[in-house]
Amino acid sequence: MNICVLGVGYVGLTTAAVFADLGNEVICIDIDEVKLENLKQGIMPIYEPGLKEIVLRNIAEERLLFTTDTAKGVANSEVIFICVGTPPKESGETDLSQIESAAKNIAKSLNSYKIIVNKSTVPVGTGDFVRRTIEEHREAEVNFDVVSNPEFLREGSAIQDTFEPDRVVIGAPNKKVALKLLELYAALERPMLITDVYSAEMIKYASNSFLAMKISFANAIAQLCEGVGADVTVVTKGMGADQRIGKQFLNAGIGFGGSCFPKDVESLIHTSGSFGYDFKMLKEVMAVNRSMVPHIMTRIDELVGDLNGKIIGILGLAFKPNTDDIRESKAIDLIKELLDKGATIKAYDPQAMELTQEVLPTIEYCSSPYEVAEHADAIVLATEWREFKALNMERIRNSMKTPIMLDGRNFYNPDDKTRLGFTYYGVGRGVFKPQ
Ligand code: UDX
Repeated sequence: MNICVLGVGYVGLTTAAVFADLGNEVICIDIDEVKLENLKQGIMPIYEPGLKEIVLRNIAEERLLFTTDTAKGVANSEVIFICVGTPPKESGETDLSQIESAAKNIAKSLNSYKIIVNKSTVPVGTGDFVRRTIEEHREAEVNFDVVSNPEFLREGSAIQDTFEPDRVVIGAPNKKVALKLLELYAALERPMLITDVYSAEMIKYASNSFLAMKISFANAIAQLCEGVGADVTVVTKGMGADQRIGKQFLNAGIGFGGSCFPKDVESLIHTSGSFGYDFKMLKEVMAVNRSMVPHIMTRIDELVGDLNGKIIGILGLAFKPNTDDIRESKAIDLIKELLDKGATIKAYDPQAMELTQEVLPTIEYCSSPYEVAEHADAIVLATEWREFKALNMERIRNSMKTPIMLDGRNFYNPDDKTRLGFTYYGVGRGVFKPQ
């Protein structure tokens, strides 16, 4: 099938690469010429395992084209995916200006019937908005349909998630369009759900908000566990063993970040408000999430004392492992709090240091976790990169000023650390003294 993908960000690039790899002809459109030139040279705008190989392979096989020419992309395609950014406004409302401009550009280039697919995460009613915008700006009386096909990929496993989604949701206005999208996705051999457009738009927000709620629930339980002397990792294991609850997204820690959960929960709160429903439950999900950095700051304060002049080592800066993305990263929030209290920060992340340097130019960036540990008064693990699992902890302990470790992701075994002489704190587990 001939496909056009508008917007070469996380979702757009992954979608384009996977569809091309399945044998479709894909034209990717973006306004950023430098980004497109880099892509042609094999320089990826994001770090995503496996992406580069697929992009290069499909460029070589001429199934993946990059251009700024919207008219060319639209004219040559049956299906057009809108994958542009939908950032939040101050109020939490979703900023649809990039969607609007994509719709206007499509409108100007419409030469024959097209299926226009919203893949960007957009509030309920955006399908209607795209339809109206195209109708107002099209230059020829050409027909088109607008579909909602939300994306559920996670950063760090975007390729696998796109090849093997738990479900493909197709919110189509009629059967004919639904069948076309089914045909496109058939090669994946995954469960597909055909819905109306509004329901598909809601499925995305309801899913992300529910997952965020699971995390905040675990984090609320974690705070309580510290009070009663329970261990949240054991509690959530016990909860997750119930299949109705499920074990995923119950890891307590310093909170959720990234470009999706915080913005999507805020957006659903905002949408609810505009329909007269005060979604207090989701407001609390965000409040619990905001409380986690202050919560760990209290523990740092208890264990380290006055932070003025103290050296705090930070392991991990990305909002989660296997990505260089620091958007809404809790590690960054934590560092800002620590800096405010007068601490000196040494940090290491396998992928995210370059991007962090742009927002935190004054902290010290280290070449390894061992350098982070040198003379540190405490270390905080903020992102659970696999390479932090099997560090030489004796070496770390010996080079620290005081062996205090705060585990913001419950990544380590407390006994292992206390046996080595660390004072260890885990979120929802409490403080463990050296044995
Ligand atoms: C999320 C959704 O999972 C995905 O379906 C959607 O398309 C986009 O948003 P992503 O933002 O890539 O994906 O990250 P995800 O793996 O979901 O993690 C989000 C945040 O939650 C991270 O900061 C992570 O550290 C945190 N998290 C996740 C927890 O704190 N505890 C958990 O149990 C799981």
